Amino acid sequence: MAGRIPQRFIDDLLARTDIVDLIGSRVQLKKTGRNHSALCPFHQEKSPSFTVSADKQFYHCFGCGASGNALRFVMEFDRLNFPEAIEALAGRAGMEVPREGESDEQRQQARVQAKRQEEAVNLLELGTQFYQQQLASPAAHHAHEYLSRRGLSDDIVSRYAIGYAPAGWDTLKRHLSEKGVDENVQVEYGLLVRKEEAGRSWDRFRDRVIFPIRDWKGRTIGFGGRVLGDEKPKYLNSPESPVFHKGRELYGLYETRVQSKRPERMLIVEGYIDVVALAQHGVDYAVATLGTATTDEHLRRLFRLVDEVVFCFDGDAAGRQAAHRALNTVLPLMIDGRQARFLFLPDGEDPDSLIRQEGGEAFEQRIVRAGSLTEYLFDHAGEGRDLRRIEDRERFASAVLEGIGKLPQGLLRSLLMRELSERTGLERSTLEELSEGSARSASGASQAPQHQARTQASGPQESPTRKGSPPRQKGTATLSSSGRILHLIVHSPVLVESLPEGEAWCPDDEDGQLLLDVVRLLRAGGYRSSQVLLAHFHGSSHGNRLLTLLQREPLIPAALRQREMEVLVAHFEQQRQRLSPERELDALQARERNGEKLTREEAGRLWQLVCEIKR
Ligand code: UTP
Ligand code: MN
Repeated sequence: MAGRIPQRFIDDLLARTDIVDLIGSRVQLKKTGRNHSALCPFHQEKSPSFTVSADKQFYHCFGCGASGNALRFVMEFDRLNFPEAIEALAGRAGMEVPREGESDEQRQQARVQAKRQEEAVNLLELGTQFYQQQLASPAAHHAHEYLSRRGLSDDIVSRYAIGYAPAGWDTLKRHLSEKGVDENVQVEYGLLVRKEEAGRSWDRFRDRVIFPIRDWKGRTIGFGGRVLGDEKPKYLNSPESPVFHKGRELYGLYETRVQSKRPERMLIVEGYIDVVALAQHGVDYAVATLGTATTDEHLRRLFRLVDEVVFCFDGDAAGRQAAHRALNTVLPLMIDGRQARFLFLPDGEDPDSLIRQEGGEAFEQRIVRAGSLTEYLFDHAGEGRDLRRIEDRERFASAVLEGIGKLPQGLLRSLLMRELSERTGLERSTLEELSEGSARSASGASQAPQHQARTQASGPQESPTRKGSPPRQKGTATLSSSGRILHLIVHSPVLVESLPEGEAWCPDDEDGQLLLDVVRLLRAGGYRSSQVLLAHFHGSSHGNRLLTLLQREPLIPAALRQREMEVLVAHFEQQRQRLSPERELDALQARERNGEKLTREEAGRLWQLVCEIKR
């Protein structure tokens, strides 16, 4: 998908979208005077403090501070990123999203491709219906028996649209051909297998239970089919096709979205049947990769929906190997605010067998107790090593550092460094240097002799690398107070949680307004990602400002940023307290007039000032 979405189009799209309609289709709105109100969909509440203004085309929650326009609502409510939210709104308005710098020819091509995809989806939809109908036919009694032997209820079978492919060689082929679907198309989307030499084609899935694989909008994009007995192969899957990419899609994602709109976490398992059995026992937030290892695209997709991902592995050697691979895939994605955990099942069990034995609650207990990424990283690095021995300790440290080196900058990184220092007795500064060194040698330059020398030196020592570090980038000295706080928050959005309540702490200077907007947004939404933040402001002057700040790496190490922020805020508060009482009163009253909600302390302060000044 090339090119930015033109701002003109976004404006036009927003002009054609009615926010009351949009929100009203997902949330029960009540007309109250000029506005509409509802129970806030972004936080738990008993009386409605969420309002939607038709005049301003804006929503605001007085309880949690969530606010924004139609686009922002779709991003937050459906947890979409910026371009996806545009697509969703455009789809509603029957508009096609243009891209800057797209030629007529490219646009035409995109249209043809979209049309073909739609046809394919229709074809696959026909397939799903066919398999479902077949399951209802008398010839499918052994498939029914199979499903009930596996403990699956009718309800869950229909929720996952599970079907049955009859035993004949060409039942689906005949069915589709009667509906006018070209044979080549059936082959292209994997429903038929064609042997070129023989010049014949036949149904790919025969005498199998069929699991339709749906994309996140619920459109069928492929199938998995399981034999009823012990024949091989046990599972057959649709091949890759223009709509089906195994490295991207997850079985069960759509069903999860439909079932529980906002799960706290997602569980990644291996098999179709695991997802279905888990859902039947109430664990309705599991997805399965499609016979491939978990890719970073899978994970990005999940992290857009939730902040926590739990990997589930069999307890055998293959499971341990898969866990190690998953660790390496997830490390680079661990920006602050995200969590990954590793659940190992007893040897010989899979989620399906286990949940049927012990039930949903016991299984959820396992999920809740699953070890964190940190624990797994340390356990894995320590495997087979005796940490009383210096050599083993060094190897252990190197293995952990290798993992830490894959992490993005952030709190997790510095916490891990501290933990590693505690466990190995190595100074943090030494570890920092080792890790900088390994990052550098990984990128080419050989630093090896230097590290070895450092590993052996265990006493505290001043870091000499600072002198040799690259020329400093332009400092933050030119930023205003609010700009400096904003700079830290943009890089580590999780810091928002360390700010004082309310908004009085916020300096009222150059970047003050943007800082407030950013803080409100982060407080309202559960995410803690710089990228989501950026996406929200995309295309505006605020967006450009944030981008500039994000490109300017803070010189303060991640571990010290919280402290830095607290110092900045405290400094400003002190200054503010030195304001004359009149100005402080004015400022508070102005905010109240603007309809802002004051915190309890601020309201108290206002009252106190009113009394003092009258006297
Ligand atoms: P498993 O072999 O672990 O099967 O395959 P399972 O999930 O326990 O299934 P049951 O309980 O025997 O029915 C896990 C996943 O690996 C892929 C499928 O995606 C399956 O869900 N797989 C397995 C294949 O693609 N082909 C196969 O032949 C086997
Ligand atoms: Mn199984």
